[in-house]
Amino acid sequence: MLIISSFAVMHLLVAAILISVVSFANAFTRNDFPPNFLFGAGTSAYQVEGAAKEDGRKPSIWDTFAHAGNAGQFEGNGDIACDQYHKYKDDVKLMAKMGLDAYRFSISWSRLIPHGKGPVNPKGLQYYNNLINELTSQGIQPHVTLHHWDLPQALEDEYEGWVSRRIVKDFTAYADVCFKEFGDRVKYWTTVNEANGGAQGGYGFGFLPPQRCTLPSIYNCSKGNSSTEPYFAAHHMLLAHASASRLYRKKYQVKQQGLIGLNLLVFGLIPLTNTSEDIIATQRTQDFNIGWFLNPLIFGKYPSTMEKNVGSRLPIFTSRESNLVKGSIDFLGVNFYSSFYIKNNPGSLKKKNRDYIADMAVEVKPYSGNGTFADELPVTPWVLQGMLHSLKNDYGDFPIYIHENGQLTGRNSSLDDWPRVWYLHEYIGGMFDMLRNGLNIRGYFVWAFLDVFELLNGFERSFGLYYVHFEDPTLRRQPKLSAVWYSNFLNDRPVDSKITMKTEENSSVLANTHLVHIAT
Ligand SMILES: *[C@@H]1O[C@H](CO)[C@@H](O)[C@H](O)[C@H]1NC(C)=O
Ligand SMILES: *[C@@H]1O[C@H](CO)[C@@H](O)[C@H](O)[C@H]1NC(C)=O
Ligand SMILES: *[C@@H]1O[C@H](CO)[C@@H](O)[C@H](O)[C@H]1NC(C)=O
Ligand SMILES: *[C@@H]1O[C@H](CO)[C@@H](O)[C@H](O)[C@H]1NC(C)=O
Ligand SMILES: *[C@@H]1O[C@H](CO)[C@@H](O)[C@H](O)[C@H]1NC(C)=O
Ligand SMILES: *[C@@H]1O[C@H](CO)[C@@H](O)[C@H](O)[C@H]1NC(C)=O
Repeated sequence: MLIISSFAVMHLLVAAILISVVSFANAFTRNDFPPNFLFGAGTSAYQVEGAAKEDGRKPSIWDTFAHAGNAGQFEGNGDIACDQYHKYKDDVKLMAKMGLDAYRFSISWSRLIPHGKGPVNPKGLQYYNNLINELTSQGIQPHVTLHHWDLPQALEDEYEGWVSRRIVKDFTAYADVCFKEFGDRVKYWTTVNEANGGAQGGYGFGFLPPQRCTLPSIYNCSKGNSSTEPYFAAHHMLLAHASASRLYRKKYQVKQQGLIGLNLLVFGLIPLTNTSEDIIATQRTQDFNIGWFLNPLIFGKYPSTMEKNVGSRLPIFTSRESNLVKGSIDFLGVNFYSSFYIKNNPGSLKKKNRDYIADMAVEVKPYSGNGTFADELPVTPWVLQGMLHSLKNDYGDFPIYIHENGQLTGRNSSLDDWPRVWYLHEYIGGMFDMLRNGLNIRGYFVWAFLDVFELLNGFERSFGLYYVHFEDPTLRRQPKLSAVWYSNFLNDRPVDSKITMKTEENSSVLANTHLVHIAT
C-alpha cells in the first residue's frame, strides 16, 4: 500500500468527540452482487509473514529499507510482522469464518529463491504449498502477486535490480517456478504490485525501497538518478511482466486455466479549475500515472504526452518488445485510495535534470473529499467510478479487480473502527452502482486482512480488519467492528442496525455526509 507522502504528514484533527447511536442499514446485500463477483482481503509477504531470517529466506530490498529506519516517521520492520509464516492455519480459519471468497497475498521471492536466481529453497516452496492448500481446502481462492516491492537484495547488489534489463530474465525464471509449482491451484497471477507507484516511489522520490533518487532535499538517497531511473525501472517492469505473461500463456495457461495481470495504483485526478489548461494537465497526469503502463500494455507504446515531455530519457520499445508487451494482461488490478487536484504547471519543463513530476508539468494538491475527517482517507467511491469509466473509454473493456481499497486509522485506536465500516459500506455500495453502470469489475479486496507492517506508517497506523496484539507474544488477532461488518455482509446476514459511532462534534463537514443520511 502506498500513501502518497502528503498523507503521511497530515495531522490528526483535534476535535471534541460525541458518541451517538445511529441506525446503519445497508441498501444492498451480498446477494445483490453477481454470484461470481469475488470479495476478499489482502496482505503482502514482507508486511505479514515475519520469519524474515528463517528457513533459508534471504533479505529483500524492503528488509534493507526498513532496517535502515525508513518505515516512515516510525520505527519498525517486518522481521516478525504478523508472523503469518507460522500462523497461516489460524489466519485461514479466520478468513473462512469471515466468509472471504479469496485471499490476495504475495510470494516473497527471496524466500522461494533466496539469491533471486539459482536454487529454489525447499522450505519456501513448502510454505507456499501449505498456505495455498490451506486456502483451497477452505474454498478460498488464492490470488497471488509475484512482486510486491520486495526484490531480492542480492539482485539489487548485483545489477541494481529493476534499473537493469537483466531483471527480465531472472523475474521470468522466478515466475516460471511459481507457475510450475503452484499454478495447479492458483488461477490468478499478478506480476507486479503498483508498478507505477514502485517506479515513482523507489526511483524518483526515493521514499520506497530501494530508495534511489537525486532529490536531496527529500530523502537523501545515496544512489540513483530521478531523471532517468523511474523510466528505466518501469520499462523493465513492463518487459518482465510481458515476458512472464508470454511464458504463462505458452506453457501453462491452457492446462492451468488461470489468468495473468498487472496491478496499478490509480489516483483520483480532479482538475483544480475548469480551465482547459487544467483539464489537459489532468489528462496528462493520467497518462503519466496510468498510461505509462496501460498504453504499452494495450497499444504497445508509451503515451505521446510522455514521449514529448520526457524525450530521449524515455526508453524505446523495439517492435518485437512492443508486440510482446501489447495485449499481455488478462485483467488489471487496481489499488485505489486517494485523489488529487491537478493544476497545470508548464514552468517545470524549463528545469534541467527534470524528475517525473517536473516532466508531468503539473502541481498536485491532495483532495480531502467532501465528507471526511483530516486524519482519514476521503470516502469518494464516485471518484473511483469516474476513473474506471475513463479507463474503459481510453483503453477498452478488460476485467478489473479492485485489489486494494481500505481505510487508515491509528493502529491502537478503538476496535470500534467505524470510519472503516463507513468506508467499506460506501465503497462496496459504490461497487454495486459501478456494476450496474456497466463497469467490468470482477472482484473487490479490502486492504488489509490484518494490521500488517505498513510502509510509511510502520506499525503506528493501519488498515486491518483484524487488530493484532503485538505486545502479546502470541500476536493474538482480534476482530474489529469492520471485520464483524464485513463478515455479516459476506454471509448475507443483516448488518447490525445499531452501531455506536463517534462523530466529531460540530463538524460542518459532517452535516453534508452520507453518514448522516444513513444514520437517520
Ligand atoms: C536530508 O539531508 C538534509 C541536510 O543534511 C537534512 O536536513 C534532512 O533532514 C535530510 N532528510 C532526511 C529525510 O533524512
Ligand atoms: C542522470 O542521467 C542523465 C542522463 O544520463 C544525466 O544527464 C544526468 O546528469 C544524471 N543526473 C545525475 C544527478 O546524475
Ligand atoms: C467545473 O464544472 C463543473 C460542471 O459544470 C462544476 O460542477 C464544477 O463546480 C466546476 N469546478 C470548478 C472548480 O469551477
Ligand atoms: C498508541 O501508540 C502510541 C505510540 O506508540 C502511544 O503513544 C499511545 O499511547 C498509544 N495509545 C494507546 C491507546 O495505546
Ligand atoms: C461550532 O460551529 C460554530 C459555527 O461555525 C462556531 O461558531 C462554534 O465555535 C463551533 N463550536 C465548536 C465547539 O467548535
Ligand atoms: C460529494 O461530492 C460528490 C461530487 O460533487 C457527490 O457526487 C457526492 O454525492 C458528495 N458526497 C457527499 C457525501 O456529500
